[in-house]
Amino acid sequence: MKVAVIVGSTRPGRVSDRLARWVANESNKIDGIKAEVIDLADFPLPFLDESISPQYNPSRKPNNIATKFLNKLENADAFVIITPEYNRSISGVLKNALDYVDFQLAKKPVALFAHGSTGGAQAIGNLRSIIPALQAVTLPNPVYFMGRAAEIIDEKGIMNKEVASLPYGPASSLDKVLQEILWYGQALANARSNDRNADIL
Ligand SMILES: Cc1cc2nc3c(=O)[nH]c(=O)nc-3n(C[C@H](O)[C@H](O)[C@H](O)COP(=O)(O)O)c2cc1C
Repeated sequence: MKVAVIVGSTRPGRVSDRLARWVANESNKIDGIKAEVIDLADFPLPFLDESISPQYNPSRKPNNIATKFLNKLENADAFVIITPEYNRSISGVLKNALDYVDFQLAKKPVALFAHGSTGGAQAIGNLRSIIPALQAVTLPNPVYFMGRAAEIIDEKGIMNKEVASLPYGPASSLDKVLQEILWYGQALANARSNDRNADIL
């Protein structure tokens, strides 16, 4: 199963990128998952520049950057969105990127991972209302990451051993999420393969 880990922040000095690498590294230790980081910094999308809402435009021609970004999403079977919480919400750059999506996430599972000085619960709440609009399925258990990521996870996405072994720490939350990705990812992939001809979107 191909899992796309989306980095939801592009600012200099961000930590979302190292959190995403950690998630991808841990995901790739699991049989049946092949994770890839999709960094919004590599896809500098303009503010949505289309005159018709993407989901209502069958003859849509997205700009070149959006086309590359959307192809990446299309190729994935499941997603982990790493969002910072900015002013009690998700980042603007992530919301703009999600506004470009038409059906690339449809009927696929999306795991939610937030971080922030208060853990990112409100960013998760926002994503729980945004993701269903993309016809996708949010997974039940998110990861709320509250620690100082830059001190806990190195640039390669390796978490320090002390934090990694905490019984109710971020590693155990992530482990639960990865099990959900496997379960829902398989179930939804089976369902998608059975409804190729069904016109229910
Ligand atoms: C503009 C801005 C607003 C923020 N607002 C919140 C907030 O409302 N709640 C919170 O828990 N953390 C907040 N924070 C802290 C960030 O979530 C935290 O620094 C996070 O690591 C930022 O992710 P990034 O480094 O990948 O950009 C804010 C940070 C910034 C830059």
